[in-house]
Amino acid sequence: MAPDTEATPLARALTATVTGLLSDIAGTGTDNIRGGYTRPVYSTAELDLRNWFIEQATTRGLSVETDLNGAIWAWWDVPGGDRSNSLVTGSHLDSVPGGGAFDGPLGVASALVAVDILKSRIATPARPLAVVVFPEEEGSRFGVACLGSRLMTGAIDPDKARNLRDQDGSTFADVAKANGLDPRFIGRDEKLLGQIGAFVELHVEQGRGLIDLDQPIAIASSILGHGRWRLSVHGQGNHAGTTLMADRHDPMVSASRIVVAIRDIARNQTNARATVGRLQPVPGGTNVIASRVDFWLDVRHPDDAVTAHVVEAIHAQARLIAAEEGCTVELREESLSPTVHFDPALQKELQLALPQAPILDTGAGHDAGVLAPYVPTAMVFVRNPSGVSHSPEEHVVDEDAETGARTLADALHGLMA
Ligand code: GLV
Ligand code: MN
Ligand code: MN
Repeated sequence: MAPDTEATPLARALTATVTGLLSDIAGTGTDNIRGGYTRPVYSTAELDLRNWFIEQATTRGLSVETDLNGAIWAWWDVPGGDRSNSLVTGSHLDSVPGGGAFDGPLGVASALVAVDILKSRIATPARPLAVVVFPEEEGSRFGVACLGSRLMTGAIDPDKARNLRDQDGSTFADVAKANGLDPRFIGRDEKLLGQIGAFVELHVEQGRGLIDLDQPIAIASSILGHGRWRLSVHGQGNHAGTTLMADRHDPMVSASRIVVAIRDIARNQTNARATVGRLQPVPGGTNVIASRVDFWLDVRHPDDAVTAHVVEAIHAQARLIAAEEGCTVELREESLSPTVHFDPALQKELQLALPQAPILDTGAGHDAGVLAPYVPTAMVFVRNPSGVSHSPEEHVVDEDAETGARTLADALHGLMA
C-alpha cells in the first residue's frame, strides 16, 4: 500500500478525522498572552482559516461560493443543480479573544467529515447539501454577534451594519470592501434563505449539561434570549495629583460600583446571567482621571420580558450610582436576540437518528438561533469535559468529536430520506 504521504488530496480528505482537521489549524491565531485563540473576523488568522476551509471543501469536490454577506458555502449539489430544499450544516471560524479551539471550528470540521461519511455511503445526495461558514458569529470585532446570519436573514438593518466600527475605528463597510464584498449589497439574501430546507449546526457544548448526564451528544431545545448593551459613564477628566478627592467626578469609580450592582441585580433574578467582560477608560492613563468609561453589558434570561426588566433595573441603578459621583450614564442597545425554540419537527427527526441523546437548552448564542425564525433549524451539542468555554480550557475528547461527526452524518442522512 502506498504510504499516506503519497495519497491523493481526495483520498487524504476521505480518511480525515475531526481531530486531524482541527490539528491542521491548531497553529492559526494562537493568543500568546491569554493562551487559546484570537481569531477575529477578517483578521489574518480568520482569513487563513477561511482559505483552509475553501481548500478542504474544494478537495472534496464541493462548489465553493462566498455570498453577499461574506458567508462561505460549499455545495454538494444534486444532479441538475437545483438547490431548493437544501440541507445546510456548518458553524463559524472566528473566535472571542483568547477562546478555545472548538467553539465554531468543531462544527465546521465535523460538517466536512460528515460529508466524507455521506460520500462513502451515497454517490449523490437526495437533497442538496451545503457546509456553511458564517462570519463574525462572536461579534468580537464589530460588537454584534452573528452578524453574517443577521445580515442574511435581514435581522439587522444593513445601514446599521455598514456603520459598525471595530476598536481601531474601521467601519464594517470598509473592512468588508477590503475583503472582497460590495458593502452596498449586504443584507437579506432572499434567494439563499429560500433555498435552505433545514439547518443543523453541531457545536461544542459550552456548559456542564452533558458531563452531568454522562452522555457524549445532545440535541438542543432552545437558546436563552440574550443581548448586548454599551454603557458610557461621563465624568470630568482631570489630574490625578492636583484634584482633591472631594472635587472629583470620576467615571471609573461609578463604573466599578455599577459592575458590582449588575452582579447583584442578576443574582437576585432566578436564571438571569449578566456580565461585564470589557471596560475601556477614555483616555486611559495612569495619572489621568478618566473623562469617560465605556463598558459592555451582556444579559441573558429564558424569558425576554425578564431580560428587559433586568436591563431596566441595571439602567436605573446605574443612573443613581453615577449621580452620586456627579457623573451621568447612557445605555445603548447593541444587539438583542429573543429566546429561540428550535423547530419541533426537525428536533423529532434528529431524535430518530439519535434516540439516546438528551435534549438540552443553552445559554450560548449561535447562528442557528438567528436562522430559527426563518428556516427549520436544529443543533447538536458535543460534550465538553471541562465545562468551560470562551476560554483556552474548552475541550472535546477525540472519541466524542468523531462520534459527533458520525452523528451529524446520520442525522443529515436521515433528513435525506
Ligand atoms: C457566543 O458564543 C455567545 O453566546 O455570546
Ligand atoms: Mn460558537
Ligand atoms: Mn462563542
